Amino acid sequence: MAQLVVETTDLTKKYGTFTAVNRLNLKIEEGEVFGFLGANGAGKTTTMLMLLGLTEPTSGTARVCGMDPAREPLEVKRLVGYVPERVGFYEELTAKQNLRYTADLNRIRRAEAEDKITSLLGSVGLGEVMDHPVATFSRGMKQRLGLADVWLKDPKLAFLDEPTTGIDPNGIDDILKLISSMAKRGITIIFCSHVLPQVQKICSRVGILSKGNLVADGPIDRLGRDAAAAGRYRMEAEVEDLKASVVEAVRKTEGVEEVEATGNILVVTARSDMRGQISRAIIDSGGLLLGMKIEEYNLDKIYKRFSKEA
Ligand SMILES: Nc1ncnc2c1ncn2[C@@H]1O[C@H](COP(=O)(O)OP(=O)(O)OP(=O)(O)O)[C@@H](O)[C@H]1O
Ligand SMILES: [Mg+2]
Repeated sequence: MAQLVVETTDLTKKYGTFTAVNRLNLKIEEGEVFGFLGANGAGKTTTMLMLLGLTEPTSGTARVCGMDPAREPLEVKRLVGYVPERVGFYEELTAKQNLRYTADLNRIRRAEAEDKITSLLGSVGLGEVMDHPVATFSRGMKQRLGLADVWLKDPKLAFLDEPTTGIDPNGIDDILKLISSMAKRGITIIFCSHVLPQVQKICSRVGILSKGNLVADGPIDRLGRDAAAAGRYRMEAEVEDLKASVVEAVRKTEGVEEVEATGNILVVTARSDMRGQISRAIIDSGGLLLGMKIEEYNLDKIYKRFSKEA
């Protein structure tokens, strides 16, 4: 198993009698892009603040890169980048000057920093405005600068809280690609978002919070199968002039649990991905296979189903 970058044990935050995060148990491995989902007020930002050492848990523990953020907040902050919902920069300084300031804070050598800053500003699409004061930037431009700022630190873990808010559609594609490339370089990402298609595009795994409780946690395809088909895989084969003998051959294939034939379409349910075996059974029994697909799940449906459960 890869190294755990985040591990929480019954992590809890109460504000008075109100429980914002309730006994959260979460494990995130190095290089994962973890989608952290949940309705407004579900407890996502509160969780991130505890992991960053910016607010203390009421009970339970958190470990980030092997350290306790409540006890070693400075060390944790050095390894963790955070792009908050609203990023703040020195408005009178230029994009480049702001990043130089971050580089200084993180003790990155000037000579090394200059090249890195220029190339990062280029990759977030701010190459042409890097010498303009941030005061002249739109919300989306500031958001892009926030990503460059986090990346400059070379963090082990990056928290991105709604990083695409206010960014235009082409820009969103750029930002999502940028996030994926950060992950490929080994930076673990926690991506908080309400925009499910974006989460579906880049996240390997999602966790869904509902009123402070983690109600689902896993890869999107597995959560989808759990929600839609009680953990089973559903495959669909299109066969030309589908005959009863072909249906029977598929039904007899070991591992197949259910077969439903409608017109020329066979819907097969099984405990695993059996596209290979099903194709073979169809062909061997004389059927002409026109197409085969496995059911894919839409995060929107998964989200609605699980967030209703709590
Ligand atoms: N400092 C605070 N004092 C009291 N209650 C708070 C405080 N901070 C957060 N809360 C409450 O904790 C709950 C969780 O808030 P949190 O900001 O973590 O939600 P969120 O999942 O990030 O929501 P959103 O999607 O709107 O950003 C909310 O009910 C909120 O009102
Ligand atoms: Mg929030």
